[in-house]
Amino acid sequence: MKKVYAGCDHGGYALKNELIKHLRELGWEVEDKGCFSEESCNYPDYASAVCEGVKAEEGALGLLVCGTGIGMSMAANKHRGIRAALCGDVFSAKMTRAHNNANVLCLGARVTGPGLAHEICDAFFTSSFEGGRHQIRVDMITDIENNQ
Ligand code: RB5
Repeated sequence: MKKVYAGCDHGGYALKNELIKHLRELGWEVEDKGCFSEESCNYPDYASAVCEGVKAEEGALGLLVCGTGIGMSMAANKHRGIRAALCGDVFSAKMTRAHNNANVLCLGARVTGPGLAHEICDAFFTSSFEGGRHQIRVDMITDIENNQ
């Protein structure tokens, strides 16, 4: 079964829950890594929990939601092998899977309304990497990571 690790902070809690339900209805196995309430918490904890899951499992993808999606994407992209994309539109969500082989989708619940967030989610989780010339560029990103 297709696996998604999902996480949020207090700002993304309600939207994450909606999207988890939606993804499960679409047939994804979703593991919820927290947070589990709207009590104030620190987004890097949840970014890391999701990224550890994604890194450990071939083909797994991640979903991270905070207020803007920015903190989550910054924290997630510090993890080796994670290519997290903050998306606010459907085209970018599709293209970041197809061209960047993004493995984590970040959303800003205080920026992107729920209807659009669902569509972005659908686009991201149903698109796949095209490889070819894009693989060369993704490998170049990995080289940057390895040369730090
Ligand atoms: C929390 O108030 C907020 O800073 C967080 O959800 C996120 O927007 C950070 O990037």
